Amino acid sequence: MKAADLASEIHTLNPYKQYGKVTRVVGLTIESKGPRTSVGELCFIYPEAADKPVLAEVVGFKDKHVQLMPLRHTVDISPGSLVEGAGKPLQVKAGTGLIGKVIDGTGRPLDGSKLPDGLVPVPTEAEPPNPLLRPRITEALSLGIRAVDGLLTMGKGQRIGIFAGSGVGKSTILSMLTRHSEADVNVIALIGERGREVKDFIERDLGEEGMKKSVVVVATSDQPALMRIKGAMTATAVAEYFRDQGRNVNLMMDSVTRFAMAQREIGLAVGEPPTTKGYTPSVFAMLPKLLERSGTSENGTITAFYTVLVDGDDLNEPIADAVRGILDGHLVLDRKLADKGHYPAINVLRSISRVMEDLVDKSHREAAANLRHYLSTYTESEDLINIGAYKKGSSKEIDEAVQIKPKINAFLQQDTSEMQALSETKKQLVDEFGKGE
Ligand SMILES: Nc1ncnc2c1ncn2[C@@H]1O[C@H](COP(=O)(O)OP(=O)(O)OP(=O)(O)O)[C@@H](O)[C@H]1O
Ligand SMILES: [Mg+2]
Repeated sequence: MKAADLASEIHTLNPYKQYGKVTRVVGLTIESKGPRTSVGELCFIYPEAADKPVLAEVVGFKDKHVQLMPLRHTVDISPGSLVEGAGKPLQVKAGTGLIGKVIDGTGRPLDGSKLPDGLVPVPTEAEPPNPLLRPRITEALSLGIRAVDGLLTMGKGQRIGIFAGSGVGKSTILSMLTRHSEADVNVIALIGERGREVKDFIERDLGEEGMKKSVVVVATSDQPALMRIKGAMTATAVAEYFRDQGRNVNLMMDSVTRFAMAQREIGLAVGEPPTTKGYTPSVFAMLPKLLERSGTSENGTITAFYTVLVDGDDLNEPIADAVRGILDGHLVLDRKLADKGHYPAINVLRSISRVMEDLVDKSHREAAANLRHYLSTYTESEDLINIGAYKKGSSKEIDEAVQIKPKINAFLQQDTSEMQALSETKKQLVDEFGKGE
């Protein structure tokens, strides 16, 4: 560095550490007088009794006081506890050494072990790639699930929502996708889910083999709201790191609804007005900020799967509606199918892949349209057929649909352990449902 540069650098340095003091704690927020800081900055709060500082983030200002939210549960903060500004937002460490690890929302290994050497710091919050520099999605991705590969073909770098009511099979589909994934790296974010499910997912669904190319980020439902937000951001940042290295990454987030709920908790705590279903405006500002970060970039791709819980199977609920508008496709899981034991319970007619047209050839497209046509004809008359009110011979189209229905079911249903490559699925689809000429 040149002497002049060094001099100007020294000139701008602040030799004093900035401290503030805790004045009060209101519900989930901690208020302090000072330090000088800005929204999003990381702070350390020093409780008198504890030897380690509590990590917190600036979430707002009120009457000249700083509003902070802790990243961990805290009990020993008292009036007068010192607050120190870190001068920067939270960063986590990413690198190849992270593969095979389970980390928390701040990037630390969950088992308390040390992170390997050679990782580089990355900010948890980043801007999405420039939309004009984003390559289009042109390459199909084999996901191993017939109903998806055949009728809702997805591409590398596509962002997909998985929508369903509770217990219809969102997590199960994610685990199938992870096991069958062709990606170089899987980044799996378990946000706001039950603690019990974390171990199930890692040991049963992912297994040792799956773990070898995965990074798992965990922020369970019992953790503070801010930590659940960070979990989603950290997982996205780690996926971005691998994308920047030119790799094809699969990012799986279970669930975006819990992320939105965490942001609602923060919004309400700092005094935002509630809108539909109590969600605050910042929730709807945060969703695109999170979801636009995945997808293609000049270097590589992040194919992303986000699960969305829909209350009472109502797809127009505000979070589902907002997410659906941002993503490039969605799978709708249907409780009626699950109740019948039809798994995966994907309602093909209500699901869509917005880029499928660009990814498949004519024979594939035609066979898929044919299958959809039979299925929709059958579904429209299903009630009549079930109560015996439909008389065979009344409509040629319905007769055909009834006849082919078992074949459609066999194609759409699939055991969780079964995997079928896209090329094979396409062949089966064209053979069984193609025009055949
Ligand atoms: N493909 C499948 N094959 C067989 N059973 C399934 C399948 N998918 C889901 N199930 C059954 O449904 C149950 C709930 O599935 P899962 O946990 O994946 O749902 P979820 O939508 O993630 O639920 P939640 O909203 O509670 O997170 C499973 O325990 C299993 O019994
Ligand atoms: Mg689940």
